[in-house]
This record gives sequence, structure tokens and C-alpha cells, in this order.
Amino acid sequence: MAKRYTSYFLGVLLSVAVTLALLQAEAAAPAVYIFGDSTLDVGTNVFIPECTAKADVYFNGIDFPNSVPTGRFSNGLNTADEIVRLLGWKRSPPPFLYLLNDPSTFKQKILRGANFASGGSGILNTTGRRFNKVISMEQQIQQFSTVRSNITNMTGSDAATDRILSKAFFLISIGSNDILEYLLNLTTTKMSIPEFNVTLLSTYENHLKTLYDLGARTFGILTVPPIGCTPFARAVFTQDGSCFEPAEQFAEAFTVEVAALLKQFSTAVQDIRYSLGNTYLMTTTMMEDMLAFGFRNVAAACCGNGTHQCNQTASFCANRDEYLFWDQFHPSQKASELAALTLFGASESLVAPMNFSQLLGVNVFCLFLSAFFEENESL
Ligand SMILES: *[C@@H]1O[C@H](CO)[C@@H](O)[C@H](O)[C@H]1NC(C)=O
Ligand SMILES: *[C@@H]1O[C@H](CO)[C@@H](O)[C@H](O)[C@H]1NC(C)=O
Ligand SMILES: *[C@@H]1O[C@H](CO)[C@@H](O)[C@H](O)[C@H]1NC(C)=O
Ligand SMILES: *[C@@H]1O[C@H](CO)[C@@H](O)[C@H](O)[C@H]1NC(C)=O
Ligand SMILES: *[C@@H]1O[C@H](CO)[C@@H](O)[C@H](O)[C@H]1NC(C)=O
Ligand SMILES: *[C@@H]1O[C@H](CO)[C@@H](O)[C@H](O)[C@H]1NC(C)=O
Ligand SMILES: *[C@@H]1O[C@H](CO)[C@@H](O)[C@H](O)[C@H]1NC(C)=O
Ligand SMILES: *[C@@H]1O[C@H](CO)[C@@H](O)[C@H](O)[C@H]1NC(C)=O
Repeated sequence: MAKRYTSYFLGVLLSVAVTLALLQAEAAAPAVYIFGDSTLDVGTNVFIPECTAKADVYFNGIDFPNSVPTGRFSNGLNTADEIVRLLGWKRSPPPFLYLLNDPSTFKQKILRGANFASGGSGILNTTGRRFNKVISMEQQIQQFSTVRSNITNMTGSDAATDRILSKAFFLISIGSNDILEYLLNLTTTKMSIPEFNVTLLSTYENHLKTLYDLGARTFGILTVPPIGCTPFARAVFTQDGSCFEPAEQFAEAFTVEVAALLKQFSTAVQDIRYSLGNTYLMTTTMMEDMLAFGFRNVAAACCGNGTHQCNQTASFCANRDEYLFWDQFHPSQKASELAALTLFGASESLVAPMNFSQLLGVNVFCLFLSAFFEENESL
């Protein structure tokens, strides 16, 4: 009973936090450029005809305005939207591939940001081929480089473009698909674990360097969440529905290594600022004390199940907000909202070396949430 009350109380505080955030963050919201996989994809894959990883069918989007499927792997908003909302925008900037369709508004819109994230993609070019065609991190950055040249076309000089981009926020969430696919391929792959490990991190580092060279200075980076505990992993890798430990270990190690990489990178170039959000720890905390976060199911998918994707013929849960997972891989809108609030309000154990509020100069409004997290970590 006590926990149910806590949960209710937390819910009230959260809605206050959101209201405050929307009131506080105003004109100064920075441009946002978003890179990564399906955790942040807001419809990119819908514009790739050959791609088979698309969330463009109902029940996806059931809680989105007008209940439309938009390509987001969510019942409503996804993590990109929830983060960008706390900066004062309505939701994520549209997919770059969508902006390209309207040359008359393209130039104005790219100044406010663009979303390049593509579901199924990875740090490595080779990741995601099982979905026929996705846009790898490397290609996403190439697309951003054309955006940079388009901005320079407007400003007339590289120096002016540098000044503009130095104020923009670069949000990245990538790596889950590389690890998952490597483990799926383990019996056929020629790459050893250490070799894969080194390739993954050095390629990630190259991507960050390229973005830096293109003018990125402020980074928000999300680590790989507990992919071994997704409904997919529970159904495909383990027989008894428990988490798949090798994937968990990869995800945890990846977090540690990316933290080290960023520390070293930021020392080398000096003029970058970043926050690394530990989505692994955030999500496992939610799983371990689910009732306190308002969840009643942290193992199964709300729509579909571990082996069946979400579509209108899939089985479907009654109360979406009580599920951590929307579908076989992705968080529900509720889980994304909690993650975003945590990124903006938590302390160094969850987002380091500073939280998104500090990174982006947003007023503090959800300290209580991080206090809550800390309380629960010691349980
Ligand atoms: C990855 O793909 C991009 C775009 O297709 C290509 O330019 C690049 O050379 C590839 N990188 C590697 C390491 O294969
Ligand atoms: C996994 O195997 C598929 C099919 O053989 C291949 O296309 C893909 O590149 C592999 N992925 C990784 C990460 O090794
Ligand atoms: C943006 O830049 C690319 C590469 O320079 C160019 O091909 C494209 O036409 C530009 N788009 C617009 C709308 O200016
Ligand atoms: C911008 O692009 C247009 C058309 O693509 C071109 O005519 C013009 O010279 C470019 N301006 C600059 C400053 O690069
Ligand atoms: C990569 O290798 C290092 C050193 O062998 C190890 O400490 C780390 O856990 C590995 N990381 C991953 C993601 O497997
Ligand atoms: C729904 O997804 C399942 C597989 O997950 C597929 O077999 C079925 O054809 C899909 N139904 C529709 C209407 O797309
Ligand atoms: C997953 O959903 C499909 C389609 O609704 C169903 O046929 C299948 O039995 C379900 N699998 C499990 C393990 O529940
Ligand atoms: C998060 O950022 C805010 C805003 O700068 C800061 O005041 C606060 O101390 C940070 N939260 C924690 C728990 O470190």
C-alpha cells in the first residue's frame, strides 16, 4: 500500500514537473540534431521503401495526437520527443528525410534541427542489414554534413555556421543493435569478442570526432539499455523468460567504456560539453522497483510479444502506462517520459559528468525525481 501511494504521489509530481518545464523553457530552446536507432527514430524508416523495420502501422501511435502511427516505435511520444519537450519544443524535430521532401521550407526548418535516427541501425555500417536497408550512424552523419553545407549556403561562411552549430544540442542513442546482432550472429561470425569490442568503440569514437569536426560541441549521449531484458531477448535467447545475461554484460560494459571514451575525447579537444545518460542503470532501477514507478509489468510487451511485432493483429494490453515495454524492444511512452525527466534531473550516478539541465541551462524542476531514484538505489 505504501508503495502504491508513493507511485501516485510521484505521478502528481511528474505532471507538475512537465507543466513547469513547458512554462520555463521558452524562446531560448536550442536547435537539436538527433542520431541513432529506433529509440530516437521519429519516422525516418517510413521514408526508406526497402526497409522492413517500420512502426508505421496501428497500434503504434495509439496515444499520439489523433492516434496516428508516425513511425515511432511507441504508443505515443518516444524518448527523442520526451527529451526535446523538456527543452521547450513540442516534440522531436521531423526526420531529415521528411524535411528533404519540401525544398521550400527545408532551409528554415534545418536551423531548428533534424532527426536522422533510423530504427535497426548501428555504430557499424554492417548492422541492420537484416532489415534490408537502414541508415547507419555513418550515413546519418553524412546527411548532417549536407545539412551543414546547406546552413553555410545561408550564412555565407564556415565561421558563421560554426557559431550557430556550437549552440546546438546533439542527441545520440546507438549501439544496442550492434550488440544484439553480434550475439544473434555469434555462431556464424568471424569476429572475436575482443575484436568486435575494439571495432565498436573505435568506430563510435570516429563518429564523435566527425561530428565534432562538423561543428558539434554539446552532446547528450545515451548508453545501451538492458537489452538482455527486452521481451525479444527473453523470448529468443532464454527459454525460461529470464534476462539474457551475455547481452546484459555487453550493455553494462559498453556504458563503462563509452564513459571512458568521452572523458578522454573531451580532454583531447577541450571545447566540448557532454552528458552521458546511463540508461542501463535507469532502466534496471525501474525494473527492480516497478511499482514505485507505476509499472505492473516490466518483462512483457504491451503490443505483440517477444517474437511478434506490434501491429493491429497483435495481442494488446489494457493499460499502456503500466508497461515498461511497448513492443518487443522499445519503451512505452510512460517509460520514455520517466527516462527524460531523469536525464534532466538526476545526479552523477545516472547522468554524468552533469545532467541535461546543467548541460543545456534548463531550470531545475525535478530534483525530487533524482532524490527518489537515489532513495531507491539503496533499497
Ligand atoms: C560506411 O558506409 C558509408 C556510406 O555508405 C561509406 O561512405 C563508408 O566508407 C563506410 N565505412 C566503412 C568503415 O565501411
Ligand atoms: C550478422 O549477420 C548478417 C547476416 O549474415 C550480416 O549481414 C550482418 O552484417 C551481421 N552483423 C554483425 C553485427 O556482425
Ligand atoms: C543542401 O546541400 C546539398 C549538398 O551541398 C545540396 O545537394 C542540396 O541541394 C542542398 N539542399 C538545399 C535545399 O539547399
Ligand atoms: C547557395 O546555393 C545556391 C543554389 O544551390 C547557389 O546558387 C548559391 O551560390 C549558394 N550560396 C552560397 C553562399 O554558397
Ligand atoms: C571490451 O573489452 C574490455 C577489455 O577486454 C572489457 O573490459 C570490456 O568489458 C569489453 N567490453 C564489451 C562491451 O564487451
Ligand atoms: C503482424 O505481425 C505478424 C508478425 O509479427 C505478421 O505475421 C502479420 O502478418 C502482421 N499483420 C499485419 C496485418 O501486418
Ligand atoms: C505471440 O503473439 C502471436 C500473435 O498474436 C501468437 O500467435 C503467439 O502465440 C504469441 N506467443 C507467445 C509466446 O505468447
Ligand atoms: C541537475 O542539474 C541541476 C541544474 O543545474 C543541478 O542544480 C542539480 O544539482 C543536478 N542534480 C543533481 C542531483 O546533481
